[in-house]
Amino acid sequence: MSEKKFKRYLITSALPYANGPVHIGHLAGVYVPSDIYARYQRLKGNDVISVCGSDEHGVPITIKARNEGITPQQVVDRYHAIIKDAFQRLGMSFDIYSRTSSPTHRETASVFFRKLYDEGKFIEQTSEQFYDEEAKTFLADRYIVGTCPRCQSEGAYGDQCEKCGSTLSPDELINPKSKLSGAVPVKKATKHWYLPLDQYDPFLREWILEGHKEWKSNVYGQCKSWLDTGLQPRAVSRDLDWGIPVPVEGEEGKVLYVWFDAPIGYISATKDLTPDWEKYWKSEDTKMVHFIGKDNIVFHCIVFPSMLKAHGDYILPENVPANEFLNLEGDKISTSKNWAVWLHEYLDEFPGKEDVLRYVLCANAPETKDNDFTWKDYQARNNNELVAILGNFVNRALVLTQKYYSGAVPAAGALTEYDCATIEELSGIKASLEANIEAYRFREALKDAMNFARIGNKYLADTEPWKVVKTDPERVKTILNIALQITANVAIAIEPFMPFSAEKINKMLNINKLGWEQLGSMDLIAADHVIGKPELLFEKIEDDVIEAQLKRLADIKAANAAAAAAEHVTEQKEEISFDDFQKMDIRVSTILEAEKVAKTKKLLKLTVDTGIDKRTIVSGIAEHFTPEELIGRQVLVLVNLAPRELKGIESRGMILMAEDASGKLELLAPGKKTNNGAIVG
Ligand code: MF3
Ligand code: ZN
Repeated sequence: MSEKKFKRYLITSALPYANGPVHIGHLAGVYVPSDIYARYQRLKGNDVISVCGSDEHGVPITIKARNEGITPQQVVDRYHAIIKDAFQRLGMSFDIYSRTSSPTHRETASVFFRKLYDEGKFIEQTSEQFYDEEAKTFLADRYIVGTCPRCQSEGAYGDQCEKCGSTLSPDELINPKSKLSGAVPVKKATKHWYLPLDQYDPFLREWILEGHKEWKSNVYGQCKSWLDTGLQPRAVSRDLDWGIPVPVEGEEGKVLYVWFDAPIGYISATKDLTPDWEKYWKSEDTKMVHFIGKDNIVFHCIVFPSMLKAHGDYILPENVPANEFLNLEGDKISTSKNWAVWLHEYLDEFPGKEDVLRYVLCANAPETKDNDFTWKDYQARNNNELVAILGNFVNRALVLTQKYYSGAVPAAGALTEYDCATIEELSGIKASLEANIEAYRFREALKDAMNFARIGNKYLADTEPWKVVKTDPERVKTILNIALQITANVAIAIEPFMPFSAEKINKMLNINKLGWEQLGSMDLIAADHVIGKPELLFEKIEDDVIEAQLKRLADIKAANAAAAAAEHVTEQKEEISFDDFQKMDIRVSTILEAEKVAKTKKLLKLTVDTGIDKRTIVSGIAEHFTPEELIGRQVLVLVNLAPRELKGIESRGMILMAEDASGKLELLAPGKKTNNGAIVG
C-alpha cells in the first residue's frame, strides 16, 4: 500500500477524445495535476514516464465525421494535431503523446482481446439491437433519436436527453428514428462479447475496498457504490465501422468497444516510447497512477483493472486520483454548446501566460467537489498573487542585487535571529509541500510552493534593505544573499506548477536547473556569482481584457438560447372551425395598475381597461415583468374567458403573449396605439 517503496513511476493521463479540442475543464481535472505530479517526481530524480495520447475511436467521432462530410480519420487527424500542439505549448511534459489509431495500438489491443478470447475470459451472447434497414447497419444509441419519455422534448438521443439530462435507453424513446436515414429502426439479433465483471467482484472488493482505503473519498465512494449495486457483464465489442476490428475470423463489421481499446492505449504509448516498456508494465516495483476526471472512474477502477487482471501479465494502478468537474462562470462546460475556454485559443490570445492558466487551474482544481472558473478570479489571482507576491519578490531581490552590487551576489555575514527564523520556516514548508503532492492535494501543495515567495516577500518588506543600505550596507549584503537563496528555492518549488516561470527565474539568476533535494538549502548560489538581467515574471491583467472574455461568453450564451428557441417549434394543434375561432373575443386593452400577488413568485394582479369595462386579471408573468414596466402598456386580452379564482382573487380574462422554447415571453400589442375595446379578429 502507501508505505511501499517503488523503483519507478508510470503516470497516465486520460486519453482525450479526438473529436474536439481540449478545454480548461480537462486541464483542471486531469492534465494540470498529472503534469505537476510527473514534474515533481522527475525533479526528485525518480525514474518517471508520463504517457498520454488521443482516444480516436468511438461513436461521437463517427457522428462528427458524418456531419462534416469527412472521414473519421480526417476528424481525428485534425484534433490530434490541435490537442498535441496545445499540450506542448502549455508545457505538458508527457514523455510521449501517442494515438489509438496507431499501428502499435491496433496490434496491442488486438492481441490483448485475442488472449482473453482464447482463454475463454469473455461471454459470447446474442441480443436484439436496433438496426437501420435502409442504411444497412446497426445503430449505436447515439444514432437513434426520438421524443424524450420524461420531458417530451424532440431530438432526445438513445442514451440521453440533453434537454432534461435524463439517461435513457433507446427502447424508451417515443417515435424512435435512425439519425442516418430517418428510417424507423427495427430489432435484429447480433452477437457480442462481454467481460463478465460480476466474476471480478471478489477481486475488486479485496483490491479496492480492503487494499486501497487511502484513495480519494470521491473515487473510493464511487467504486463502493458500483460494487454494492452489483456488477453486470459489459459488452466489449460493437457493430460499427470505425475502430479496431474484433480479431476473430468471420466476424467482420464488429469492432472493439472504445472503452476496451482506449485504456490499452496507455500500454501501446509506453511501447512506442521505449523498447524497455515491460519494465514499467510488468514489475511490481512500478507505481502506476491514473489521472482522470470523475466520469472515467468506473472505467479505470473497475473495468480496466478487471481486464488487466483477466490478462494476468500487467500491474494494477496504485492510485486513481480522479477530480470532479470544473464549471465555467457558473455553468457546466459543454463542448456542443461551445461553453468553454479552449486551450489552443487561450494560448493564442494570451501568449506568455501559460503559467497563469496553470496556476489558476491548480488553485481552483475541483479536487473534492465541482468548482467554478471565472475570469474575475483569473484576473484577481494573477494580479494579487502572481504579480503582487511571486513576481514582486523575485523582481525586488534581483533588481536590488543589480543596483547595489552590479549583479554580483554578495556574501552573507552573521545571521540575525529573524534571518534564522525565516530560514527555519522555509524548511518546514518543504515537508508539507512534499506530503501534499504525494497525497494528490495539489491545491494545498501550490499554496506551499507560493509560501516560499510569500515568506521571501515578507522578509524583504520587514528587513527593508532599501532603507538599511544608507545606514548599514554590510547588513544589506546578508539580506540580499538570503533573498537570492530564497529566489533559487522559489524556482525549485514552483517548477512542477509553473515550469516557464521557474525557467525564467533560473535564467535571471544565471543558474542551471536545480533538483528537488536542494529545496530548503541556503547555499544554492555562491557569493560573487553574477546574476543575469531582471525581467518581470508576470504582468497585471487589466479589466478590458477580462471584459472581452466575458463579452465573448455572453455572446455564446445568447446565440445558444436563440438557436435552441429557433430549433424548437411545437407542432400545430388540432384543426378548429371558423366558428370556434369566432367564439373568442379578443380586445385591445390598457394595463392601468399592476402589483405582485402576496406570497407568490409568479403572479401579478393587473387592472386593465378593456374598453368594455375595467377589470382584474391575474397573470403568471411576475418573473418576466416588473409591475412598473407594465403600467400604461397596451396589450391584447381574451375577455370572454370564463372567470377563475387565483389566490382568492377573481381573474376575468387572459393577457395574450408569445412564448418561445427558451421560455422567453413577449406581450402582444397592436402595432400602434389603438382604442381600448377594439376587436381583434
Ligand atoms: N477519452 C476518454 C474521455 O475523454 C478518456 C479515455 S481514458 C482511457 O473521457 F484510458 F480510456 F484512455
Ligand atoms: Zn428529456
